[in-house]
Amino acid sequence: MSNNKLYIKTWGCQMNEYDSSKIADLMEKELNCKIIQSVENANIIILNTCSIREKAQEKLFHQLGRWKNLKKSNPNIIICVGGCVAVQEGKRILNRAHYVDIIFGPQTLHRIPVMINKIRKFKKYLIDISFPKIEKFNYFPLAKTKKISEFISIIEGCNKYCTYCIVPHTRGKEISRPYENIIEEIKNLSNQGVKEIHLLGQNVNAYKYIDLKGNICNFTNLLKKIAKIKNIKRIRFTTSHPQNFSDELIQIYKKIPQLVNFVHLPVQSGSDKILSLMKRRYNIIEYKNIIKKLRIIRPNIQISSDFIIGFPGETQDDFYKTISLILNINFDMSFSFIYSPRPGTPASKLNNNISEYEKKQRLYILQYYINQQTKKISQKMLNTIQSVLVEGISPQNKQLFFGRTENNRVVFFQNKNNYIGQLVNIKITTSYLYSLYGQFISINNNLY
Ligand code: SAH
Ligand code: SF4
Ligand code: F3S
Repeated sequence: MSNNKLYIKTWGCQMNEYDSSKIADLMEKELNCKIIQSVENANIIILNTCSIREKAQEKLFHQLGRWKNLKKSNPNIIICVGGCVAVQEGKRILNRAHYVDIIFGPQTLHRIPVMINKIRKFKKYLIDISFPKIEKFNYFPLAKTKKISEFISIIEGCNKYCTYCIVPHTRGKEISRPYENIIEEIKNLSNQGVKEIHLLGQNVNAYKYIDLKGNICNFTNLLKKIAKIKNIKRIRFTTSHPQNFSDELIQIYKKIPQLVNFVHLPVQSGSDKILSLMKRRYNIIEYKNIIKKLRIIRPNIQISSDFIIGFPGETQDDFYKTISLILNINFDMSFSFIYSPRPGTPASKLNNNISEYEKKQRLYILQYYINQQTKKISQKMLNTIQSVLVEGISPQNKQLFFGRTENNRVVFFQNKNNYIGQLVNIKITTSYLYSLYGQFISINNNLY
């Protein structure tokens, strides 16, 4: 019996969360690790970092500083740093934190068990931040889960090179996983009771895999294959890119009722000038056309976005174009960030000419509008009947079940029967910003 106790801390996007859960599975299988929640009792510590916005390095060294004493009192502890900051900083991490043992990247995390064994033998640090082609998925054991909704990564990396973004530099080139593996992974999840699949990637709709016979499977083809898997009642995906949101993909919303009435489609800015400086590869008319076409097929579809505020050159006029787009599209809950220059990106060389005060003001205004709309959308759901996928019992109140609407609102309701894992119709009776309360009406057998 081993007494490996592993503590993992994760920062960043859902892909990083997914990676960390896979590291945990792999470490359990290969090194008999027990995953623990308190770092003080761990003998292996893994930090999975993110470098999307500012102070990523500072945050890393701050965190490592807190773990320095743990290593001092027990030199056998192994500290591993991975993720996007690890790729960016590489060996430089050791200059400021010489007690780190392993540095790995998003594409080499499957090598951690072997690296740990080597460290234990040779007592020397190891760095592997290379980009082997989508190798890691072959190493992950089949997932075990008790959840109703699960994430699954379908595409790695990004080829878009938006001028502000670090991701293509840290996650590597865009590579799609073989669809056979994805389908196999989803079937395995479905056999364990998973009813909702959330596909992940920096650009899921750029998915393209050519199999050994030369057949091309694009994102729409993949969705069709997933929709055929027994018991998968809902399909979500994050993040899609407007440039790859083809008519074929829009039309498939007619054919696949499992696709939720919700799309996260980041626009970043409402100004064509800024979009061009960002190298986003679409303009506002094209963006609006996608939404228009989607709403013809699914009139109630909700759209969310990411926004960057204060990109170099953004004038008041550009900013108000973003606000006007927000009102025009009626975005649901969205994410917004102040622009942060990332080392080595083209935008970091542009004159960052907007004052901090101005940026904060713009962010505040933008978030005000988004929150107002989120609130209105929640309120409009009052007295309507919503399709809810029941996920479990509320941790706060054991009398209540909870589930999610298609547009990601958590709904609480009471019932004497256990409908966990089923789609049910709930009449919404109380509405808060992000959560709702309702009354059970019936089981929802037809998806629409
Ligand atoms: N691939 C996705 C999102 C990637 S990162 C897409 O293209 O939409 C998630 C979000 O972080 C981005 O949508 C963007 O809004 C934000 N972001 C990325 N780089 C940033 C930077 N340098 N400064 C501020 N926000 C940034
Ligand atoms: Fe970054 Fe742009 Fe790729 Fe998204 S599409 S990950 S913002 S480079
Ligand atoms: Fe962050 Fe890397 Fe994800 S920079 S957002 S962890 S891809």
